[in-house]
Amino acid sequence: MDDAVQAVIDRVGAAAARHDAAQADRRDRWRVLEPDAGRFLWFLAQATGARGIVEVGTSRGVSTLWLADAARATGGRVTSFDTDAAAQRDAAANLAEAGLAEQVDLRLGDGGAGLAELDDGAVDLLFLDAERTEYPSWWPHPVRVLRPGGVLVADNALSHPDEIAPLERLLRRDLRAVTTIPVGKGELVAVAGERAV
Ligand SMILES: C[S@@+](CC[C@H](N)C(=O)[O-])C[C@H]1O[C@@H](n2cnc3c(N)ncnc32)[C@H](O)[C@@H]1O
Repeated sequence: MDDAVQAVIDRVGAAAARHDAAQADRRDRWRVLEPDAGRFLWFLAQATGARGIVEVGTSRGVSTLWLADAARATGGRVTSFDTDAAAQRDAAANLAEAGLAEQVDLRLGDGGAGLAELDDGAVDLLFLDAERTEYPSWWPHPVRVLRPGGVLVADNALSHPDEIAPLERLLRRDLRAVTTIPVGKGELVAVAGERAV
């Protein structure tokens, strides 16, 4: 991990902790990815040589920073969707400060609609970190866009198991090696077979 990137992740993480502690409504919180979950994503992206990386849920860009640092190592690129323009403006500034602007394409808009526009098999690594209950309504695109051997990761498997359960059922039907890695708030992971759907 590049020291400059780590410094930005640490700064934004600390700012998020202060911000979130003052918000009564969950939706007003930044809810950035925990450091151990970020490190897991960073390792996974490099271990799988992921080049086509897609994220839904940019917020202030903490997970995007982890993924973009990995993408710089793999020669890849991160496309990150969020519906919140102010959040993505902050994320863009954080990525620029970390020297990672070139690795990331920030797209303002609904992640489900964004996934629907991607080609079959275009994605090596898909990270879902938005409104968990929406994911099933995006089907089949979260699995259709994965290349064979591509990996899907969804946050909050341990913090919100009831909300993640419908997604997990679909992944158990359509993908393989479905399991939860106990880092951060729990990362639900699955691997695409030869034909995802
Ligand atoms: C938990 S935060 C993401 C945290 C971010 N991954 C990080 O580590 O800093 C969830 C984000 O998902 C966004 N979001 C919610 N529904 C969405 C949707 N349908 N499409 C895209 N973004 C969405 C919210 O605006 C919010 O910024």
